[in-house]
Amino acid sequence: MDYRLSILFVFSLFLVASSFGSADESIGDDLFIRQVVDEDRLLNADHHFSLFKRRFGKSYATQEEHDYRFAVFKANLGRAKRLQKLDPSAIHGVTQFSDMTPAEFRRNHLGLKRLRLPADANKAPILPTNDLPSDFDWRDHGAVTSVKNQGSCGSCWSFSTTGALEGANFLATGKLVSLSEQQLVDCDHECDPDEPGSCDSGCNGGLMNSAFEYSLKAGGLMREEDYPYTGTDRGTCKFDKTKIAASVANFSVVSLDEDQIAANLVKNGPLAVAINAVFMQTYVGGVSCPYICSKRLDHGVLLVGYGSAGYAPIRMKEKPYWIIKNSWGEHWGENGYYKICQGRNICGVDSMVSTVAAVHTTSQ
Ligand SMILES: *[C@@H]1O[C@H](CO)[C@@H](O)[C@H](O)[C@H]1NC(C)=O
Repeated sequence: MDYRLSILFVFSLFLVASSFGSADESIGDDLFIRQVVDEDRLLNADHHFSLFKRRFGKSYATQEEHDYRFAVFKANLGRAKRLQKLDPSAIHGVTQFSDMTPAEFRRNHLGLKRLRLPADANKAPILPTNDLPSDFDWRDHGAVTSVKNQGSCGSCWSFSTTGALEGANFLATGKLVSLSEQQLVDCDHECDPDEPGSCDSGCNGGLMNSAFEYSLKAGGLMREEDYPYTGTDRGTCKFDKTKIAASVANFSVVSLDEDQIAANLVKNGPLAVAINAVFMQTYVGGVSCPYICSKRLDHGVLLVGYGSAGYAPIRMKEKPYWIIKNSWGEHWGENGYYKICQGRNICGVDSMVSTVAAVHTTSQ
């Protein structure tokens, strides 16, 4: 079993244990975050590292490994402080990724194989935008499954794909069915028509549009429970055509225009989007709105809504934000979700947006 998945398992045991415990845990967590990001306080790295290990159930095989991870952790505290200055409307601090270098983080927890919008993809029709609600969240309409966890595997693209198809299938059938990422990880080797040699390859990355293409050709995706996630790509394909739970009717890319993105979201369900994840390794909450952020896309996520309530920093009054479902578990970000401001294609979030439609299937 994968080393980090077993850590997650230990962590869930810890959560079960702590739910019987005191309220100190959550108070401690709040303090913890404030101390890390507070400029004026002495950074007590030793103490923070102990809390971090306890909170995320981390243990290291050797003293060398422990010392190395502590050094990385300290570097990440400094990094969180720098990112906090660049991104004042979000909270940056300690996350489950705080003992990983940025390179390890990119390698193990992202996995998007694409830098640009596909050139020859179907374009979504232009929709009217005059009657859009000011706030909208597909979670309120039952179209979003609970937050999943890709573990230590560059399979973000498969979670973005299933999330979009789960929503589309809900709109087509009225039923919310959790779909199998592992089917995509094991069976989808579809290649990007625009980029020779760039093919969906399990934990080594992939692309949502290629995964929609695979799903169209294969006939559909199975249920999560019929083809559960393992977090590795060493298994063989176990796709069973008789157990298809959702099928793709068509898919297309949405223009960069944010009103069009919102209109497609409201009409067609959650959208598969790509993003640059540099501000996500240290993200704890709030609306991320960095002054500068690369538009180099490296992570696939799911756009489920937008809003503006409760967000009025001096710099950007009532600026609306996107609500994004991530695949790093519920203990990352805001219960597994990320908020990022609209208006400037921040971190490339508007650059590669896909919408999918599902057909009604006869399976149970
Ligand atoms: C996609 O499929 C849906 C459902 O069958 C259909 O209503 C819609 O018109 C199709 N869209 C495009 C762009 O072909």
